[in-house]
Amino acid sequence: MPPNSQLAPHTPHPATRCSAPGKIILFGEHAVVYGRPALAVPVTQVQATATVTASPRPGIFIEAPDISLFSDLYSLPSDHPLAAVIQSVFSALNLPSPPGRGAGGEGLAIHISSTIPVASGLGSGAAASIAIIRALLAYIGHPLPDERISALAYEVEKLHHGTPSGIDNTVITFAKPVYFIKSQPIETLHVGAPFTIVIGDTDIASPTKESVGDVRKLWQAEPERFEKIFDAIGAIVNRARRAIENGEVSALGPLVDENHTLLREMTVSSPELDRLVETARRAGADGAKLSGGGRGGNMIALVKPENAEKISAALLKSGAQRTIITSVGTVERLNG
Ligand code: PMV
Repeated sequence: MPPNSQLAPHTPHPATRCSAPGKIILFGEHAVVYGRPALAVPVTQVQATATVTASPRPGIFIEAPDISLFSDLYSLPSDHPLAAVIQSVFSALNLPSPPGRGAGGEGLAIHISSTIPVASGLGSGAAASIAIIRALLAYIGHPLPDERISALAYEVEKLHHGTPSGIDNTVITFAKPVYFIKSQPIETLHVGAPFTIVIGDTDIASPTKESVGDVRKLWQAEPERFEKIFDAIGAIVNRARRAIENGEVSALGPLVDENHTLLREMTVSSPELDRLVETARRAGADGAKLSGGGRGGNMIALVKPENAEKISAALLKSGAQRTIITSVGTVERLNG
């Protein structure tokens, strides 16, 4: 049942279900950790869904069959991302902590499922957090603004990634294309003309925490060289933003390629990502790059809509585990 803003605060719903999309970073990953801008878009073909229902069993019971997790809230360590996100909603509302097992009264069951591949740069962790936050808020009957929802999810992102920039929770909460600078107010992006992206998954886990840590070590060893790379990426992001807003799709392809070259210089690509990037270009993509933390996970290819199926097939033949074709500029809100 969708949240109903007409209800008075604290009026519980019989059951609530909320979904949050995946996301992909178009430009600016890694440099965004160092204060440069980045562009990211929601990917609505995949999503995380949380359903909250009343349960005769007291306390809060979590069911996440995708990760084989069936547990009472208090049986999870407090820094477990699912436990942390649930607790954070209760503290944000200044409500007492949810009662534990053995307490009297009615309890809750929270069921979480997701079609977003994990550790692949598609924002699976942030999407699960945001779906849970929205479903719990709707169940309790106490909506919060998107900024607060994003901030709650950001705290949980820290448990997943250490020092995240905050781009995942931002783009997924707002479910719109965003121009993102760390610690600055969100700017959503006007897309002047829609464009098509093919996402190709290497099926190799992308260790974001590790790649971010490695880039930090390299930056510490050679600050001048890395600052120049980050600046060059920042300039690409700003050019891409103008091109997207002005509907100049043909200007984007070379920028995608340049961004990939700089990510390679930062050592965050991999032979598998480079192979898929090359395959996409040879099959007619206008530009291709890795997306997200790198070393594994996904790459993206900017394509003409009529070439999307052909490029997707070429990626699958070249070892991609799965592909997603998505159109940017046809915005859809999942919980609206
Ligand atoms: O792997 P992902 O999609 O979660 O993205 C990581 C993006 C980085 O810029 C590498 C890190 C960050 O926190 O922004």
